[in-house]
Amino acid sequence: MSKKVFIKTYGCQMNVYDSKRMADVLKPVGYEVSENSDDADLVILNTCHIREKAAEKVYSEIGRLKQTKEAKASDGKNMYIAVAGCVAQAEGPEMMRRAPAIDMVLGPQTYHRLPDMLKTAEEQRTGGRKSARVLDTDFPVDTKFDHLPEESEYTGPAAFLTVQEGCDKFCTFCVVPYTRGAEYSRPVQDIVSEAKRLVASGVVEITLLGQNVNAYHGELASGETASLGGLIRELSEIDGLGRIRYTTSHPRDMDDELIFAHRDIDACMPYLHLPVQSGSNAILDAMNRKHTREHYFDIIDRLRAARPDLALSSDFIVGFPGETDQDFEDTMDLVRRVKYASAYSFKYSPRPGTPASVLETQVPEEVKSERLARLQALINEHQLEFNTNSIGREMDVLLERPGKFEGQLLGRSPYLQAVHVDVSKAQNTLDVGGDNPYSGFMGKLVRVRISEAGPNSLKGELVSALH
Ligand code: 5AD
Ligand code: SF4
Repeated sequence: MSKKVFIKTYGCQMNVYDSKRMADVLKPVGYEVSENSDDADLVILNTCHIREKAAEKVYSEIGRLKQTKEAKASDGKNMYIAVAGCVAQAEGPEMMRRAPAIDMVLGPQTYHRLPDMLKTAEEQRTGGRKSARVLDTDFPVDTKFDHLPEESEYTGPAAFLTVQEGCDKFCTFCVVPYTRGAEYSRPVQDIVSEAKRLVASGVVEITLLGQNVNAYHGELASGETASLGGLIRELSEIDGLGRIRYTTSHPRDMDDELIFAHRDIDACMPYLHLPVQSGSNAILDAMNRKHTREHYFDIIDRLRAARPDLALSSDFIVGFPGETDQDFEDTMDLVRRVKYASAYSFKYSPRPGTPASVLETQVPEEVKSERLARLQALINEHQLEFNTNSIGREMDVLLERPGKFEGQLLGRSPYLQAVHVDVSKAQNTLDVGGDNPYSGFMGKLVRVRISEAGPNSLKGELVSALH
């Protein structure tokens, strides 16, 4: 009988990708994915360490799981708790001390060894021990990508594909260089093969992932090196791959080849997440961002010249140590100038082991909260304006899942806006096939006329089926 694994994912899209790959690694050793922890033989928490709140959530979840584990043990059943991801990497031994219910701790670079770890854990628990003590947070010399099985079944028309991992930039607030390790790019051929398999399974859109995705420099079969722009060009040759996205980029690595990919390659979507973090040069310097606001504006100008309808998004940190009122006003000014289609903003959260966490100029919590509220209000205003400007336009939408209401499907515009599409009326006029009245549209790119806009989504009607 097959066993069950429940994987709970926190944090970024790379963790979502990693969780899928962990499921792929466990399949050959008899584990099926389960949707809840109650019937699971193995629970994996794939954790995020980027901000304090993200890490704290993990400990409260372990508290809950401990009770399930104990209840199962009294029924004579074994359950294993594994903690993976960046909290595991950063605090592995401490986690094991703090939460004895944990059986296994593994880092983002060692999950291909999960079957071995499980075996060790099982051996350790024979004889009735409540928990095993398996810890593997190495940064192995040979990468996990060389050991992963081919990815498993289709889970929707939009998929993630990790092309780059790690970061050498060392922004002073950030844990990523410590938890994910040094920058590494997968060879072009491996990525192309994975993309082809995804497309063959029905995937239409691929988002290329990397902590510093545009620092990508992967090996070509010729021995030369491809940049991210070059990789996108290669991938755009794949028949049936309608959309290519990538995230997250750093301003320093925004080169011409990538900028021109937005101009020349139809599949390269007109959307870019390009975090700036702050609009103040003094703060950018203290953050070790290695660019100024002027440099950032210059990139935005070049991008918009290449692709005038490009939608931009960013991350911001408010209340970085030493941030003055004027520094914050510089951030507000930058936002007013760029006008993002969407953006994420966070209060600075000191992370253990990072240089900024020990600065004595920490900003009081109330000041951070007040600044965050002002920044978010401005971003929301722009986001609503961006969405409202879509009304009356026709756009291609990739339909990904059923909507809330009957006859409605939910998809994404080229600009990553969520779009609720009414497909019920068009059903009779378009020959789309499928038994279920709406299934013919699911997973497809369709042409949609936008009729309504809200702060977080659009509504529209189907004009035609594209594929
Ligand atoms: N405090 C607050 N926000 C942070 N981020 C990264 N580290 C921190 C921190 N210590 C934010 C940055 C990054 C996003 C993923 O998380 O804005 O781009
Ligand atoms: Fe962290 Fe991004 Fe800076 Fe790297 S570039 S240290 S991942 S914020």
